[in-house]
Amino acid sequence: MALRNIRQMGDEVLKKKCREIKEVTPRIRELIEDMKDTMYEANGVGLAAPQVGILKRLVVIDVGEGPIVLINPRVKETRGEQTGEEGCLSLPGKFGIVTRPMYVKVEAWNENMELVELEGEELLARAFCHEIEHLDGHMYVEKIEGELHDVVYEEDGE
Ligand code: NI
Repeated sequence: MALRNIRQMGDEVLKKKCREIKEVTPRIRELIEDMKDTMYEANGVGLAAPQVGILKRLVVIDVGEGPIVLINPRVKETRGEQTGEEGCLSLPGKFGIVTRPMYVKVEAWNENMELVELEGEELLARAFCHEIEHLDGHMYVEKIEGELHDVVYEEDGE
């Protein structure tokens, strides 16, 4: 198990656009495993490669249903709306209200370089949007309604 250092908001690496991954090399596989370990250790539901200082289009997510690895992910379809609390491992202990789609369909490569489609609702839809935005240098704080706060006010309220 290898943990990587999670970059904190204010670090320039979190503002940069990430590059596509052309091939799943042993080094990329190692990065994927390290990112999963780092996400679980930090009790997060998602982690994007730039958060560990790597400018590649790679995301890991686990909303409690097992790990999902997204390589070069792209949002293909969204439906509906949900408004609720969001946080980020690059800004620990802070939360903000963000409106996201209720349903998101994503296209990405899996670890075997197969193009796959994944669908998510509620928390998974939120995680897809949040993590994919990291790959273009964006953080959820750009979209919050109201102020950042230190505790969760409501459980995924609609
Ligand atoms: Ni984040």
